[in-house]
Amino acid sequence: MARVIVMDLSRHNTVMVGHDRYFVLDTGGRAELVRDHCPHRGGPLSLARRTPDGRRLSCPWHGTKVGIAAVRRGCLPMVRSGDEALVVLPDGAGAPVSVTHREILANLPPDPTHHDEGAEHG
Ligand code: FES
Repeated sequence: MARVIVMDLSRHNTVMVGHDRYFVLDTGGRAELVRDHCPHRGGPLSLARRTPDGRRLSCPWHGTKVGIAAVRRGCLPMVRSGDEALVVLPDGAGAPVSVTHREILANLPPDPTHHDEGAEHG
């Protein structure tokens, strides 16, 4: 049976489910809870900066560009009502869950000093 938590988005932007971290990513005015995991080697996409076109995240570890559309594919189902969000957690019964607030660079405007180098993903 799926587990559901209620998050206050005015206070928290990150959820830990076992060893997996999810963060609130602003995708064009819409908040989505996406996995904080670069497909290259698991770097923290929450600390990635957006490319100038705003469509990809540049991973802080090795510079892989990860398409936001690809990142969104793994998002957790979430229903919002104001700052309150009902989140359906992934299967993995018994994994400890915690919510926190962390710095999320991925929601900042694109980095104007960014140079379009590095691998592409998604
Ligand atoms: S872990 Fe993200 S680029 Fe290597």
